[in-house]
Amino acid sequence: MNRLGKPVSYRAQINTLHTNEPAGSITDTLGRPCRDLRVSVTDRCNFRCVYCMPKEVFGRDYTFLDRAELLTFEEIVRLAATFQALGGEKVRLTGGEPLLRRALARLIAMLAGLPGLDLTLTTNGSLLAEQAPALKEAGLQRITVSLDALDNAVFQAMNDVGFRVEQVLEGIAAAAAAGLTPVKINMVVKRGMNDTSILPMARYFRGSGHILRFIEYMDVGTTNGWRLDDVVPAAEIVRRIHAELPLEPVEAQYWGEVAQRWRYRDGEGEIGVISSVTQAFCRDCTRARLSADGKLYTCLFATEGHDLRALLRGGASDEELVTAITQIWRVRADRYSEIRTAETVGLDKVEMSYIGG
Ligand code: GTP
Ligand code: 5AD
Ligand code: SF4
Ligand code: SF4
Repeated sequence: MNRLGKPVSYRAQINTLHTNEPAGSITDTLGRPCRDLRVSVTDRCNFRCVYCMPKEVFGRDYTFLDRAELLTFEEIVRLAATFQALGGEKVRLTGGEPLLRRALARLIAMLAGLPGLDLTLTTNGSLLAEQAPALKEAGLQRITVSLDALDNAVFQAMNDVGFRVEQVLEGIAAAAAAGLTPVKINMVVKRGMNDTSILPMARYFRGSGHILRFIEYMDVGTTNGWRLDDVVPAAEIVRRIHAELPLEPVEAQYWGEVAQRWRYRDGEGEIGVISSVTQAFCRDCTRARLSADGKLYTCLFATEGHDLRALLRGGASDEELVTAITQIWRVRADRYSEIRTAETVGLDKVEMSYIGG
């Protein structure tokens, strides 16, 4: 019996399908394995970050998914186990805001039952202070918290719902105290909006044991009005920090790591920069994304997903799931960030709050 409860060896089955590939892994047309599954557990969020869910679009009359449309925890675990059988090593829970999903700790406990899986979560931190201990208890290993500024006026202009920095900082402290470490802090940098917060954020988190990562503002979805001029290149971010707090590069921890790592020369910790606009990393992209209603997307900038929920609810066997996902991944050719042009920016892309960061 395997972990899906069926007397079948997926690895054996996959190996007979692709005899030239390493045991248990599938690769796409560019030779990239499927290592990470990013699962959006809800499309809802209590923030309206200007670069993600602008209020004018995600207003009172915006229709979010119904509860019945969401994948159940059992369905998510079944898909995660299938991915693991196909070479997946890591599951990251995202949203919208994942901590808004009712009884999320139960899902974490179920996923933690899949042996050897790296299990993490990305949150806006607003509900973390109260939930961190239960998440850890359930088996979550690490956490990433988004925080775009330390200054309340700037942060509130970014989250657009008047949420205060202190509450997110409390969430970060609670996560660290619960042992969800190392805590990573994601800061999306938008020129003219929070680029003055780069140095204050670097100074604040230096020596804290948390890893601050600066993310280039991306043209995800169709609603955030992205312009190239709003992007602060990762090289500029590193230059600005290095001028005050000398840095040196650190080797990547694993193949396909998203962030380029730098450490403070005086030993006070490390930072990362995620340069998806100025230095695309599609060549190593091993990420698949599952929307809250069970569509599989092979790129953050995809226009269409593959409906796995229909398969699940149509009674597909484990073998049929394996075959369907294998077929989707084997023809994958996505490399949006490498081929981004003024024209592609206007394409009809899926929203990040729906598909997950
Ligand atoms: P860790 O294992 O915790 O280091 O995860 P990670 O490095 O994958 O970081 P995380 O999942 O937090 O991703 C950080 C951010 O990078 C995301 O929130 C996105 O903004 C961006 N990002 C992640 N994956 C992709 C991707 O496949 N394509 C692009 N263009 N951006 C991505
Ligand atoms: N560009 C870059 N990063 C983004 N995120 C959301 N929207 C964007 C965007 N347009 C980030 C969030 C969070 C993660 C889930 O994705 O800040 O850290
Ligand atoms: Fe919500 Fe995260 Fe999007 Fe902000 S970036 S609106 S916190 S999902
Ligand atoms: Fe992967 Fe698409 Fe991002 Fe490139 S743009 S790194 S293919 S998700």
